[in-house]
Amino acid sequence: MGCSAERERAPGEGAHPVGWADIQNQDAPAFHRHFLRANGEPLARCRECHGSDYSGGAVGVSCRSSGCHTNPEGPEFCGTCHGSDKGARPSTGAHSIHIAYCTTCHNVPTQVSAPGHIDVDAAAIVQFSGIAVLRSPNAVWNKSIGRCTDTYCHGAQSPVWTNLTPIGCDGCHGHPPDDHSPWKRLTSTCIGCHPAPEAGRHINGNVDLLATVNCTSCHGQGNSAAPPPALSGATSASERGVGAHQRHVSSALSDRMGRAVPCQTCHIVPASITAPGHFKPDVLVHLPNGGRFDSTTATCTVDCHYNKIPGPSWTDTSGKPRQCNACHEFPPVTTRNGTPHPSVNGVLAECLACHTYDPATHVNGIVNFLP
Ligand code: HEC
Ligand code: HEC
Ligand code: HEC
Ligand code: HEC
Ligand code: HEC
Ligand code: HEC
Ligand code: HEC
Ligand code: HEC
Ligand code: HEC
Repeated sequence: MGCSAERERAPGEGAHPVGWADIQNQDAPAFHRHFLRANGEPLARCRECHGSDYSGGAVGVSCRSSGCHTNPEGPEFCGTCHGSDKGARPSTGAHSIHIAYCTTCHNVPTQVSAPGHIDVDAAAIVQFSGIAVLRSPNAVWNKSIGRCTDTYCHGAQSPVWTNLTPIGCDGCHGHPPDDHSPWKRLTSTCIGCHPAPEAGRHINGNVDLLATVNCTSCHGQGNSAAPPPALSGATSASERGVGAHQRHVSSALSDRMGRAVPCQTCHIVPASITAPGHFKPDVLVHLPNGGRFDSTTATCTVDCHYNKIPGPSWTDTSGKPRQCNACHEFPPVTTRNGTPHPSVNGVLAECLACHTYDPATHVNGIVNFLP
């Protein structure tokens, strides 16, 4: 292309080889796209003649003429080399189903000439960030097997990039997850507790619970989390998850003979639904005031029941553990300290000569006397 020496064009050739601009044969090796690709996309060289904005420049031949490169950005439009007239997103692999997340998997260049774009090392094309590596520092794209592994999004699963068969609801996590087994009876639908995946909060880095999920969503009812129903759905006091809860905690029972017992007397109460240790407590029954719950026989040996061995069974519905001589003798012969108790008849009226007796103060740890 010297300017000083006059010469003839080779037949059929112009400034470029034959086929260079033959849009009908874009796949032919001579088409300029392939030259560019093979040579690291040297667009700067093209600008020397076709102009800094590709609209003609020194040679007066615009790249936008003939209806080519019509995007305002000309050949540097992101969709020119990969993607489509809509943008840079390639149609390869699973790109079409990861619409919103370029930057999650790539360093996205702001312009064609950005360092690390065209000259990117093949091994570094995928560089995870954001949600892909959330709580998943080992997330990796494994080119040799064509899979992503250890990403936050896919959990324990490693889907094949080129397999577009839709992943089912259990494709990334269980449907429901294994840790939902305690409340399995409630999981025929997920939207009782979670927003629907379509609500825009799915795979956003947070496990979203609906604000309507409360303490009685899984156990208990009304304003008390105490069973019934138990987690299993059981409602009978003869079943272990229900047991003597109401007898202990309900102030509504008309035949109460002892004060209502706070949950804290027998449990560590979670401060919130997602409090650590709640769903899998180290010990389900925790007795801070001493005593022992035998989880094999479900019996208690505690001060309240005068430390009887074996103590009453949690699922005993016979009423026997409530009898007036079930905990202390009626009246006691000796006190716990071994001192003799006044000898009187086993009639409540006689007790009231010395004691006050009121369900609100009975079994509260203090022996009550008349003032
Ligand atoms: C030395 C100047 C020069 C350089 C550098 C140059 N071109 Fe050209 N190009 C021309 C000229 C002159 C034409 C006009 C057609 C002809 O005379 O062959 C042309 C035509 C074209 C055409 C056909 C345009 C049409 O409307 O038919 C394309 C496509 C093209 N060039 C692409 C490129 C690309 C891609 C590069 C960079 C790799 C490039 N050119 C670099 C001078 C140049
Ligand atoms: C001139 C051609 C060309 C243009 C225009 C172009 N790219 Fe690229 N792009 C490439 C090449 C080549 C690669 C290297 C990967 C490959 O081999 O396909 C690449 C890779 C990428 C990658 C993945 C890997 C990486 O980290 O670099 C992204 C994302 C990307 N381009 C986005 C864009 C965006 C956004 C634009 C517009 C600002 C753009 N591209 C414009 C040629 C181009
Ligand atoms: C979920 C991860 C993921 C997302 C999101 C993603 N890509 Fe990719 N991209 C890949 C993988 C995997 C490859 C294949 C890399 C390889 O072959 O080593 C790839 C390859 C590419 C390439 C190289 C050419 C090709 O088709 O293989 C370009 C360019 C690219 N992506 C651009 C984009 C752009 C632009 C977006 C956003 C619109 C995007 N990607 C979103 C994972 C992703
Ligand atoms: C691509 C992997 C993937 C697939 C497929 C998937 N999930 Fe998820 N899902 C997640 C991740 C990751 C979470 C963790 C919480 C988050 O980031 O939103 C999650 C959380 C959830 C949650 C808890 C609430 C929430 O949004 O945080 C529900 C409910 C759920 N998914 C239901 C479904 C259903 C229903 C389907 C099938 C339509 C499904 N998931 C398919 C990845 C997936
Ligand atoms: C009774 C309420 C309830 C129902 C119904 C429910 N979940 Fe959950 N889910 C939870 C709670 C509570 C968490 C734990 C939230 C936390 O730890 O932040 C959770 C957490 C999750 C998580 C995060 C990962 C994990 O294992 O903790 C996924 C995924 C999930 N649920 C999916 C589902 C799917 C799918 C369904 C329906 C098949 C479903 N859930 C039904 C209450 C429920
Ligand atoms: C998503 C279902 C679910 C919700 C909602 C829920 N729980 Fe629980 N709760 C459980 C599970 C599971 C256990 C453990 C049972 C086991 O280990 O047998 C439990 C145990 C308990 C226990 C006894 C053991 C302990 O040490 O934690 C108490 C007390 C309790 N929950 C109170 C609450 C309170 C208060 C709320 C509201 C802040 C609540 N629960 C909301 C599922 C739930
Ligand atoms: C007198 C002691 C006591 C009190 C008070 C008590 N619980 Fe319990 N709770 C138990 C025992 C015993 C179990 C059964 C333990 C077992 O099966 O090993 C139990 C089990 C549970 C369970 C698990 C149920 C299931 O389905 O497996 C929950 C939830 C629970 N209690 C919540 C509460 C709440 C909430 C309160 C307060 C409103 C409360 N408890 C008060 C003794 C008590
Ligand atoms: C669950 C075990 C238990 C049962 C059943 C029981 N008591 Fe008691 N009672 C106690 C304890 C413990 C005390 C010691 C004082 C305290 O903690 O309130 C006590 C104390 C008393 C006192 C002394 C006054 C007081 O309240 O301190 C009287 C009177 C009494 N009981 C009467 C009865 C009668 C009447 C019945 C049958 C209706 C009965 N008790 C059943 C555990 C029990
Ligand atoms: C004449 C008064 C008197 C009468 C009547 C009486 N008590 Fe007492 N009671 C006492 C005294 C005094 C103590 C405390 C003894 C001590 O601490 O040494 C006591 C203690 C108790 C205790 C606590 C024992 C312990 O182990 O700490 C119980 C339970 C009790 N009485 C139940 C009864 C019952 C039930 C009746 C009626 C059947 C009754 N008392 C009638 C005077 C009386």
